[in-house]
Amino acid sequence: MSSPISSVLRKGLFQGKVAIVTGGATGIGSAITKELLFLGCDVVIAARKADRLSTAAAELNRRFPAENKKDRVLPVVCNIRKEDEVKHLMQRTLEHFGKIDYLVNNGGGQFPSPASDISLKGWNAVIETNLTGTFLMCREAYASWFGEHGGAIVNIIADFFKGFPFMSYVLRCFLVTYSALAMAPPKRSSPYHAYMKDHGGAIVTIVTDMWKGWAMMSHSGAARAGVDNLTKSLSIEWANHGIRINAVAPGSSIFSETAAANYGDPQLFQKAIPRIPAKRLGNPEEISATVCFLLSPAAAFITGETVKIDGAASLYAQSHWEVPDHNKMPAYSWKNEEEANRDDDGAPKKAK
Ligand code: ADE
Repeated sequence: MSSPISSVLRKGLFQGKVAIVTGGATGIGSAITKELLFLGCDVVIAARKADRLSTAAAELNRRFPAENKKDRVLPVVCNIRKEDEVKHLMQRTLEHFGKIDYLVNNGGGQFPSPASDISLKGWNAVIETNLTGTFLMCREAYASWFGEHGGAIVNIIADFFKGFPFMSYVLRCFLVTYSALAMAPPKRSSPYHAYMKDHGGAIVTIVTDMWKGWAMMSHSGAARAGVDNLTKSLSIEWANHGIRINAVAPGSSIFSETAAANYGDPQLFQKAIPRIPAKRLGNPEEISATVCFLLSPAAAFITGETVKIDGAASLYAQSHWEVPDHNKMPAYSWKNEEEANRDDDGAPKKAK
């Protein structure tokens, strides 16, 4: 029997709306896709892996059959790091559904490494996936529809619950930020602009919990802090296009079957609980509920905000990274300064 799908929001709230969800086939992205469908929204799910996408789309189309001939779930292969693929994603969405109301940028990823060992290639890959990819999605959603037509975009920027089996220790940090953007319309010359500028839009971005820095994940922390700031900038810049932009920060304490399968050890999640004031793990539906809220008219006056969804873990937990004992940071004092300026006999050092 398939698992239940529901929402605290009114069924039909998003009837006639169209959303793009990157990474929408698995984990948190899958929960968001399902809740949007439940609320009446048609959804384009985008990711790099065609097989996973088409399997998920086929299953969801069976569960949420269309009233007309068009499938309610459209899978589109897209690497968000590639500008032409992002443009193609917007184009396919407009061809199939004729508009875009919401964008949820959830695709992303990283690998753990001491900063000193990160190659330029590795650094660029993480920045491109988590920050540049989100920027491209926002820009192209704006250019193709939101700028002109208004609407809503949810950018969920990479979570680490997918496909990093060697990252088990990362579960002990609490790092996922989401941002929500809502967008509206300006007028420009391309066919895309012609659409977007009238509809506006909304964007929700998911960033990680990098609030106190992110040891061993400096590239990802920097990218996610960048997304948090991008969210703020765009909320100001695009306000006059009717675009709201917000972020959601789930933290790393969100349990999902996908994540558990990736890590192969459910106990890793349990070990996080003492560090969470709520004294339990969160779940993908709790992220999805906030994303849907931020896209909905209930959040009509919320923009440029990042909502943490982590049971207060980011306020409470210390860094997952233990700093080894050392004496490499001697204190500064006038006494030390004076001593440093005297020779071994105590006489003032002569100026050279
Ligand atoms: N998920 C993780 N990395 C991605 C990428 N580059 N494009 C789309 N989805 C992704």
